[in-house]
Amino acid sequence: MAFQNLLIEDSGAVRLITLNRPDKLNALDRTTLAELHQAFDQAASAESVRVVVLTGAGSKAFVAGADISEMSPLTPVQARDFSRFGQQLMTRIEQLGKPVIAMINGFALGGGLELAMACHLRIAADTAKLGQPEVNLGLIPGFGGTQRLLRLAGRGAALELCLLGQQIDAARALALNVVTRIVPSEQLSAETMKLAEQLAAAAPQALRGVLDAVVIGGEAGLQAGLDYETQAFALAFSTEDMKEGTSAFLARRKPQFVGH
Ligand code: COA
Repeated sequence: MAFQNLLIEDSGAVRLITLNRPDKLNALDRTTLAELHQAFDQAASAESVRVVVLTGAGSKAFVAGADISEMSPLTPVQARDFSRFGQQLMTRIEQLGKPVIAMINGFALGGGLELAMACHLRIAADTAKLGQPEVNLGLIPGFGGTQRLLRLAGRGAALELCLLGQQIDAARALALNVVTRIVPSEQLSAETMKLAEQLAAAAPQALRGVLDAVVIGGEAGLQAGLDYETQAFALAFSTEDMKEGTSAFLARRKPQFVGH
């Protein structure tokens, strides 16, 4: 299906979703948020898709935040609904059950950083700039930024970024665990695809078990999280890929995962 503000492209089992409003630095308006909801639903249900890469069109921005022109006239009730709609999208991405990589090609500010933080891996160009600048607008992050930044980077960094509202460069973002990897900008696409293809060749149910145990189980407290891990571990023994992975290791050959 064609979208107004997104480009969708498959390369083997890797689905590339590109936010495509470069003249507005890919700012998240309601249409784009709704389209992302749909695009991630489709990626979840398409069996051929094993990994999703999310990026922004143009050379300047991943996403420069929620659309300020759309946001400024909202009533408090509308703002609550807007926040919830954004948060639901972020949770949808985080709980997709397939790895999602944010390919951060430029500004990742406000809702842009919140979107990147909902992804499982964040690979940034060395030229990228990141931040939660909402306080400069008299606002606070509303798409989960206060909570995910806290979990990724700790309370000190979350408070520093959200209170000061300043942009940080990719190197500092890496030092704070806000991104997982940095590469020279001209290598961003190739390095991200290499990573995506590595994940696409892995056993999808094993990846899913890891994602569920870390993302969902990790929020449930230690014992509940350990129980979650045990269930996912046991479930892996029902898959062909587990039989293939362990027998390939014992036969000293490369595994060929079938995906179930
Ligand atoms: N919402 C709506 N429009 C946005 C936007 C946003 N979050 N971020 C950028 N844009 C638009 C600009 O209004 C401009 O549109 P125009 O050409 O029609 O006037 C266009 O994108 C280009 O942005 P511009 O500000 O001219 O680029 P710049 O290189 O001078 O500055 C930024 C880049 C990212 C520093 C600056 O755009 C910015 O601060 N954006 C807002 C970041 C923010 O506060 N995000 C959190 C929102 S809650």
